[in-house]
Amino acid sequence: MSSIPANDLHADPSRFPGLDVYAVAGNPISHSKSPAIHQRFAEQSKQAIHYGRLQPAIGEFAKVAKSFFAAGGKGMNVTVPFKLDAQVLADVLTPRAKLAGAVNTLWIKEGKIYGDNTDGAGLVRDLVAQGIQIRGARILLLGAGGAARGVMGPLLEQEPAQLIVANRSSAKADELVGLFHDFANNHHAQLESRALLDLEDQIKTPLAFDLVINATAAGLSDQSPLTAQAVSHVFVPSSFAYDMVYGKTTAFMQQALHRGARVSDGLGMLVEQAADAFLIWRGADASIDPRSVLSELRT
Ligand code: ATR
Repeated sequence: MSSIPANDLHADPSRFPGLDVYAVAGNPISHSKSPAIHQRFAEQSKQAIHYGRLQPAIGEFAKVAKSFFAAGGKGMNVTVPFKLDAQVLADVLTPRAKLAGAVNTLWIKEGKIYGDNTDGAGLVRDLVAQGIQIRGARILLLGAGGAARGVMGPLLEQEPAQLIVANRSSAKADELVGLFHDFANNHHAQLESRALLDLEDQIKTPLAFDLVINATAAGLSDQSPLTAQAVSHVFVPSSFAYDMVYGKTTAFMQQALHRGARVSDGLGMLVEQAADAFLIWRGADASIDPRSVLSELRT
């Protein structure tokens, strides 16, 4: 058990002598569940760490992160809107962080800052834990921003039959698909782009999808990226609809439920990406149980 109360969210390493200090950085950050998740992993693996939170002003991420590491901080999770700044800051990037174009996990080793991206792996593990078969599946990914890009590589690695990226602005979907063209070929996946509005057209989108992932920011404003007409082409009762937003049944999830499909929010992805970060920092043999932490968060 950690001797530090879970509600002590300071992130100045000098305040916690003898403890390895980690933090999550974002803006805003007050509602982040990462401190609670990592403290539970620390308790499960009987490790004493301190995990705080940081809210750099926009434009000040690099300064804040550098002083955190200079003061002895061991590792950092990075969330909206700093994942690109974190990628720029890192001295060394893992291949999947390069592919994702963003970094959500930083750590320091021999004076160098390393950057990784565990979001896509977290999504895949949550899907698998929920019984979803990705290999051979027809997948629709909604959105073409950072959240969508972050999960493209890990999804394609699972060799779905097809991955269609649909975005409000079709140019952005085209661009994202272009970036992953070779990667998709190497993993025997058919990769295509669409405008969201093309999903209304049964000629352009003739078949429903096994898995539909909402990686747009629409849910944050209680909207769905899918029109009512698109919904009837996209979902069948055997579809699984996954929203990366967590903590509510979004408009997108409601549409899927009305079509009889199964749904999930993104809380499991949050816990699983945190688990990957914890294992990177604390060693792959750390004994943690992400699914039990997820159940605790849901109660
Ligand atoms: P993130 O890093 O969270 O992906 P982002 O890069 O700003 O954030 O991307 C937001 C995504 O949500 C984009 O795909 C955006 O579509 P556009 O590229 O067309 O702007 C999408 N998005 C935001 N609000 C939306 C809405 N109301 N309906 C559909 N898509 C929306």
